[in-house]
Amino acid sequence: MDDFKTKYGPWALVAGASEGLGAAFAEALARRGLNLILIARRLSKLEALAAEWQAKYRIETRSYPVDLADIEATRQFLAQLDSVPGLLVYNAAFAPIGYFKDLSESDLQKIATVNVMGPLLLAKALSAKMIERGKGGIVLMSSLSGSQGSAKIATYAATKAFNTILAEGLWHELRGNGIDVIASCAGAIRTPGYEKAKDVREAPGTMDAASVAEKTLNALGKGPVVVPGRMNQFFRFLMGRILPRKLAISIMEKNTKNLS
Ligand SMILES: NC(=O)c1ccc[n+]([C@@H]2O[C@H](COP(=O)([O-])OP(=O)(O)OC[C@H]3O[C@@H](n4cnc5c(N)ncnc54)[C@H](OP(=O)(O)O)[C@@H]3O)[C@@H](O)[C@H]2O)c1
Repeated sequence: MDDFKTKYGPWALVAGASEGLGAAFAEALARRGLNLILIARRLSKLEALAAEWQAKYRIETRSYPVDLADIEATRQFLAQLDSVPGLLVYNAAFAPIGYFKDLSESDLQKIATVNVMGPLLLAKALSAKMIERGKGGIVLMSSLSGSQGSAKIATYAATKAFNTILAEGLWHELRGNGIDVIASCAGAIRTPGYEKAKDVREAPGTMDAASVAEKTLNALGKGPVVVPGRMNQFFRFLMGRILPRKLAISIMEKNTKNLS
Protein backbone atom coordinates (compact mmCIF):
# COMPACT_ATOMS: atom_id res chain seq x y z
CA MET A 1 0.00 0.00 0.00
CA ASP A 2 2.81 2.44 0.95
CA ASP A 3 4.73 1.54 -2.22
CA PHE A 4 1.61 2.24 -4.27
CA LYS A 5 1.18 5.67 -2.65
CA THR A 6 4.84 6.53 -3.13
CA LYS A 7 4.79 5.56 -6.80
CA TYR A 8 1.39 6.94 -7.81
CA GLY A 9 0.46 9.48 -5.09
CA PRO A 10 -0.13 11.75 -3.44
CA TRP A 11 -3.01 12.70 -5.81
CA ALA A 12 -5.01 10.48 -8.20
CA LEU A 13 -7.54 11.70 -10.75
CA VAL A 14 -10.59 9.54 -11.49
CA ALA A 15 -12.64 10.53 -14.53
CA GLY A 16 -16.22 9.29 -14.21
CA ALA A 17 -16.16 8.85 -10.42
CA SER A 18 -19.77 9.59 -9.41
CA GLU A 19 -21.01 5.97 -9.35
CA GLY A 20 -20.35 2.40 -10.43
CA LEU A 21 -16.83 1.35 -11.26
CA GLY A 22 -15.41 4.91 -11.11
CA ALA A 23 -16.62 5.29 -7.52
CA ALA A 24 -15.14 1.85 -6.72
CA PHE A 25 -11.76 2.92 -8.18
CA ALA A 26 -11.83 6.13 -6.16
CA GLU A 27 -12.62 4.32 -2.92
CA ALA A 28 -9.89 1.71 -3.59
CA LEU A 29 -7.41 4.57 -4.08
CA ALA A 30 -8.61 6.37 -0.94
CA ARG A 31 -8.06 3.12 0.96
CA ARG A 32 -4.47 3.16 -0.33
CA GLY A 33 -4.11 6.68 1.14
CA LEU A 34 -4.17 8.69 -2.11
CA ASN A 35 -5.89 12.09 -2.26
CA LEU A 36 -8.58 12.27 -4.93
CA ILE A 37 -9.45 14.58 -7.79
CA LEU A 38 -12.92 13.45 -8.85
CA ILE A 39 -14.66 14.41 -12.06
CA ALA A 40 -18.08 13.64 -13.56
CA ARG A 41 -21.10 15.69 -14.60
CA ARG A 42 -23.03 15.30 -11.32
CA LEU A 43 -21.16 17.38 -8.75
CA SER A 44 -23.58 16.62 -5.89
CA LYS A 45 -22.89 12.87 -6.20
CA LEU A 46 -19.13 13.47 -6.25
CA GLU A 47 -19.31 15.74 -3.20
CA ALA A 48 -21.38 13.25 -1.19
CA LEU A 49 -18.90 10.42 -1.91
CA ALA A 50 -15.92 12.71 -1.31
CA ALA A 51 -17.25 13.73 2.13
CA GLU A 52 -17.70 10.06 3.08
CA TRP A 53 -14.16 9.10 1.96
CA GLN A 54 -12.52 12.13 3.59
CA ALA A 55 -13.99 11.10 6.93
CA LYS A 56 -13.35 7.37 6.50
CA TYR A 57 -9.82 7.41 5.01
CA ARG A 58 -8.49 10.82 6.19
CA ILE A 59 -7.63 11.96 2.69
CA GLU A 60 -8.09 15.23 0.79
CA THR A 61 -10.47 15.47 -2.15
CA ARG A 62 -11.39 17.92 -4.90
CA SER A 63 -14.53 17.48 -6.98
CA TYR A 64 -15.16 19.08 -10.38
CA PRO A 65 -18.24 19.01 -12.62
CA VAL A 66 -16.83 18.31 -16.08
CA ASP A 67 -18.69 17.05 -19.15
CA LEU A 68 -16.14 14.93 -20.99
CA ALA A 69 -18.33 15.09 -24.10
CA ASP A 70 -17.32 18.76 -24.30
CA ILE A 71 -13.71 18.98 -25.49
CA GLU A 72 -13.39 22.70 -24.62
CA ALA A 73 -14.68 22.11 -21.07
CA THR A 74 -12.19 19.25 -20.68
CA ARG A 75 -9.33 21.47 -21.88
CA GLN A 76 -10.38 24.26 -19.49
CA PHE A 77 -10.53 21.82 -16.58
CA LEU A 78 -7.02 20.57 -17.37
CA ALA A 79 -5.65 24.10 -17.73
CA GLN A 80 -6.85 25.18 -14.26
CA LEU A 81 -5.73 22.01 -12.44
CA ASP A 82 -3.13 23.11 -9.90
CA SER A 83 -2.18 19.80 -8.24
CA VAL A 84 -0.36 17.20 -10.30
CA PRO A 85 -2.00 13.77 -10.24
CA GLY A 86 0.45 10.87 -10.13
CA LEU A 87 -2.27 8.50 -11.31
CA LEU A 88 -5.01 8.83 -13.93
CA VAL A 89 -7.95 6.44 -14.03
CA TYR A 90 -10.03 7.14 -17.13
CA ASN A 91 -13.27 5.30 -16.40
CA ALA A 92 -16.02 7.45 -17.95
CA ALA A 93 -17.74 6.10 -21.04
CA PHE A 94 -20.76 6.72 -23.21
CA ALA A 95 -22.35 3.42 -24.24
CA PRO A 96 -25.72 3.82 -25.96
CA ILE A 97 -27.28 0.50 -26.90
CA GLY A 98 -28.62 0.21 -30.44
CA TYR A 99 -27.88 -0.90 -33.98
CA PHE A 100 -25.59 1.42 -35.94
CA LYS A 101 -28.40 2.35 -38.33
CA ASP A 102 -30.47 3.63 -35.38
CA LEU A 103 -27.81 5.75 -33.64
CA SER A 104 -27.73 9.45 -34.49
CA GLU A 105 -24.61 11.20 -35.72
CA SER A 106 -24.56 13.13 -32.45
CA ASP A 107 -24.57 9.81 -30.50
CA LEU A 108 -21.59 8.66 -32.57
CA GLN A 109 -19.75 11.92 -31.95
CA LYS A 110 -20.43 11.69 -28.22
CA ILE A 111 -19.16 8.08 -28.08
CA ALA A 112 -15.97 9.13 -29.87
CA THR A 113 -15.48 12.22 -27.69
CA VAL A 114 -16.07 10.68 -24.25
CA ASN A 115 -14.41 7.32 -25.00
CA VAL A 116 -11.55 8.36 -27.32
CA MET A 117 -10.82 12.10 -27.12
CA GLY A 118 -11.30 12.13 -23.33
CA PRO A 119 -8.62 9.53 -22.61
CA LEU A 120 -6.31 11.12 -25.18
CA LEU A 121 -6.62 14.64 -23.73
CA LEU A 122 -6.23 13.54 -20.12
CA ALA A 123 -3.41 11.09 -20.83
CA LYS A 124 -1.56 13.68 -22.93
CA ALA A 125 -1.82 16.48 -20.33
CA LEU A 126 -1.15 14.35 -17.25
CA SER A 127 1.59 12.14 -18.70
CA ALA A 128 3.59 15.30 -19.51
CA LYS A 129 3.67 16.12 -15.77
CA MET A 130 4.39 12.50 -14.87
CA ILE A 131 7.35 12.47 -17.28
CA GLU A 132 8.76 15.55 -15.47
CA ARG A 133 8.40 13.73 -12.13
CA GLY A 134 9.81 10.46 -13.51
CA LYS A 135 6.91 8.37 -12.17
CA GLY A 136 3.19 7.84 -12.42
CA GLY A 137 0.42 5.57 -13.66
CA ILE A 138 -2.41 5.55 -16.18
CA VAL A 139 -5.39 3.18 -16.14
CA LEU A 140 -7.66 3.14 -19.20
CA MET A 141 -10.95 1.28 -18.79
CA SER A 142 -11.55 -1.04 -21.68
CA SER A 143 -13.90 -3.96 -22.16
CA LEU A 144 -14.05 -7.52 -23.50
CA SER A 145 -16.56 -6.12 -26.01
CA GLY A 146 -13.53 -4.49 -27.66
CA SER A 147 -11.83 -7.83 -28.38
CA GLN A 148 -14.00 -8.53 -31.44
CA GLY A 149 -16.87 -6.87 -33.29
CA SER A 150 -19.85 -6.54 -30.94
CA ALA A 151 -23.27 -6.03 -32.56
CA LYS A 152 -25.65 -3.47 -31.01
CA ILE A 153 -22.70 -1.76 -29.27
CA ALA A 154 -20.42 -1.74 -32.32
CA THR A 155 -19.09 1.83 -32.01
CA TYR A 156 -18.68 1.69 -28.23
CA ALA A 157 -16.83 -1.65 -28.58
CA ALA A 158 -14.55 -0.16 -31.24
CA THR A 159 -13.62 2.69 -28.86
CA LYS A 160 -12.77 0.10 -26.21
CA ALA A 161 -10.46 -1.65 -28.71
CA PHE A 162 -8.85 1.77 -29.24
CA ASN A 163 -8.25 2.14 -25.49
CA THR A 164 -6.64 -1.30 -25.22
CA ILE A 165 -4.28 -0.66 -28.11
CA LEU A 166 -3.51 2.87 -26.90
CA ALA A 167 -2.65 1.53 -23.43
CA GLU A 168 -0.38 -1.14 -24.92
CA GLY A 169 1.50 1.44 -26.98
CA LEU A 170 1.82 3.88 -24.08
CA TRP A 171 2.87 1.06 -21.74
CA HIS A 172 5.86 0.50 -23.99
CA GLU A 173 6.61 4.17 -24.72
CA LEU A 174 6.34 5.46 -21.16
CA ARG A 175 7.90 2.64 -19.13
CA GLY A 176 11.33 4.24 -19.64
CA ASN A 177 9.93 7.38 -17.97
CA GLY A 178 8.84 5.42 -14.89
CA ILE A 179 5.16 5.52 -15.88
CA ASP A 180 3.00 2.38 -15.71
CA VAL A 181 0.10 2.15 -18.16
CA ILE A 182 -2.59 -0.52 -18.20
CA ALA A 183 -5.86 -1.26 -19.99
CA SER A 184 -8.46 -3.10 -17.94
CA CYS A 185 -10.50 -5.34 -20.25
CA ALA A 186 -13.43 -6.08 -18.01
CA GLY A 187 -16.36 -8.38 -18.66
CA ALA A 188 -19.79 -7.43 -17.32
CA ILE A 189 -19.73 -5.46 -14.05
CA ARG A 190 -22.65 -4.78 -11.69
CA THR A 191 -22.90 -1.00 -12.11
CA PRO A 192 -25.87 1.35 -12.59
CA GLY A 193 -24.96 1.57 -16.30
CA TYR A 194 -24.95 -2.23 -16.76
CA GLU A 195 -28.04 -2.79 -14.57
CA LYS A 196 -29.99 -0.41 -16.84
CA ALA A 197 -28.87 -2.09 -20.07
CA LYS A 198 -28.74 -5.77 -19.19
CA ASP A 199 -31.21 -8.46 -20.03
CA VAL A 200 -33.04 -10.07 -17.08
CA ARG A 201 -30.14 -12.51 -16.81
CA GLU A 202 -26.59 -11.49 -15.87
CA ALA A 203 -23.83 -12.37 -18.33
CA PRO A 204 -21.61 -15.27 -17.16
CA GLY A 205 -18.62 -13.98 -15.18
CA THR A 206 -20.34 -10.74 -14.08
CA MET A 207 -18.27 -9.12 -11.30
CA ASP A 208 -18.71 -6.52 -8.57
CA ALA A 209 -17.21 -3.10 -9.26
CA ALA A 210 -15.03 -3.22 -6.12
CA SER A 211 -13.41 -6.46 -7.24
CA VAL A 212 -12.70 -5.15 -10.77
CA ALA A 213 -11.14 -1.97 -9.33
CA GLU A 214 -8.93 -3.96 -6.89
CA LYS A 215 -7.75 -6.45 -9.52
CA THR A 216 -6.98 -3.63 -11.95
CA LEU A 217 -5.00 -1.54 -9.45
CA ASN A 218 -3.12 -4.63 -8.25
CA ALA A 219 -2.10 -5.35 -11.87
CA LEU A 220 -0.77 -1.83 -12.53
CA GLY A 221 2.96 -2.05 -13.21
CA LYS A 222 2.81 -5.76 -14.11
CA GLY A 223 1.92 -5.53 -17.81
CA PRO A 224 -0.07 -3.60 -20.41
CA VAL A 225 -3.43 -5.39 -20.07
CA VAL A 226 -5.42 -6.96 -17.25
CA VAL A 227 -8.58 -9.05 -17.65
CA PRO A 228 -10.24 -9.13 -14.22
CA GLY A 229 -11.75 -12.53 -13.31
CA ARG A 230 -10.82 -16.07 -14.34
CA MET A 231 -13.94 -16.72 -16.37
CA ASN A 232 -13.35 -13.49 -18.32
CA GLN A 233 -9.70 -14.49 -18.92
CA PHE A 234 -10.88 -17.81 -20.35
CA PHE A 235 -13.53 -16.05 -22.46
CA ARG A 236 -10.95 -13.64 -23.94
CA PHE A 237 -8.56 -16.49 -24.71
CA LEU A 238 -11.32 -18.53 -26.35
CA MET A 239 -12.73 -15.66 -28.39
CA GLY A 240 -9.38 -14.15 -29.39
CA ARG A 241 -7.11 -17.15 -29.85
CA ILE A 242 -9.15 -20.30 -30.37
CA LEU A 243 -12.36 -19.53 -32.24
CA PRO A 244 -12.50 -18.32 -35.83
CA ARG A 245 -13.20 -14.58 -35.92
CA LYS A 246 -16.66 -14.96 -37.54
CA LEU A 247 -17.76 -17.36 -34.80
CA ALA A 248 -16.43 -15.07 -32.04
CA ILE A 249 -18.47 -12.18 -33.48
CA SER A 250 -21.67 -14.30 -33.60
CA ILE A 251 -21.15 -15.53 -30.03
CA MET A 252 -20.72 -11.95 -28.84
CA GLU A 253 -23.93 -10.99 -30.62
CA LYS A 254 -25.82 -13.63 -28.62
CA ASN A 255 -24.73 -11.74 -25.47
CA THR A 256 -25.37 -8.21 -26.72
CA LYS A 257 -28.59 -8.59 -28.75
CA ASN A 258 -30.82 -8.55 -25.65
CA LEU A 259 -29.29 -5.38 -24.19
CA SER A 260 -31.64 -2.43 -24.34
N1 LIG B 1 -20.56 -2.08 -16.56
C1 LIG B 1 -20.04 -3.01 -17.34
O1 LIG B 1 -20.60 -4.11 -17.50
C2 LIG B 1 -18.72 -2.76 -18.02
C3 LIG B 1 -18.08 -3.83 -18.66
C4 LIG B 1 -16.84 -3.61 -19.27
C5 LIG B 1 -16.26 -2.36 -19.23
N2 LIG B 1 -16.91 -1.33 -18.60
C6 LIG B 1 -16.27 -0.03 -18.59
O2 LIG B 1 -16.18 0.42 -17.26
C7 LIG B 1 -16.33 1.84 -17.20
C8 LIG B 1 -17.42 2.20 -16.23
O3 LIG B 1 -18.62 1.59 -16.58
P1 LIG B 1 -19.90 1.76 -15.67
O4 LIG B 1 -20.81 0.66 -16.05
O5 LIG B 1 -19.50 1.97 -14.23
O6 LIG B 1 -20.52 3.11 -16.24
P2 LIG B 1 -21.69 3.99 -15.63
O7 LIG B 1 -22.39 3.22 -14.54
O8 LIG B 1 -22.48 4.45 -16.79
O9 LIG B 1 -20.85 5.19 -14.98
C9 LIG B 1 -20.09 5.98 -15.78
C10 LIG B 1 -19.39 7.09 -14.97
O10 LIG B 1 -18.87 7.97 -15.93
C11 LIG B 1 -19.42 9.27 -15.75
N3 LIG B 1 -19.68 9.87 -17.05
C12 LIG B 1 -20.41 9.38 -18.06
N4 LIG B 1 -20.45 10.26 -19.07
C13 LIG B 1 -19.71 11.34 -18.69
C14 LIG B 1 -19.39 12.57 -19.29
N5 LIG B 1 -19.87 12.92 -20.49
N6 LIG B 1 -18.60 13.44 -18.61
C15 LIG B 1 -18.15 13.12 -17.38
N7 LIG B 1 -18.42 11.97 -16.76
C16 LIG B 1 -19.20 11.09 -17.41
C17 LIG B 1 -20.72 9.06 -14.96
O11 LIG B 1 -21.00 10.18 -14.13
P3 LIG B 1 -22.04 11.36 -14.45
O12 LIG B 1 -23.26 10.71 -15.02
O13 LIG B 1 -22.24 12.01 -13.12
O14 LIG B 1 -21.34 12.26 -15.42
C18 LIG B 1 -20.34 7.87 -14.08
O15 LIG B 1 -19.64 8.32 -12.94
C19 LIG B 1 -16.60 2.29 -18.63
O16 LIG B 1 -15.40 2.73 -19.22
C20 LIG B 1 -17.07 1.03 -19.33
O17 LIG B 1 -16.75 1.04 -20.70
C21 LIG B 1 -18.11 -1.50 -18.00
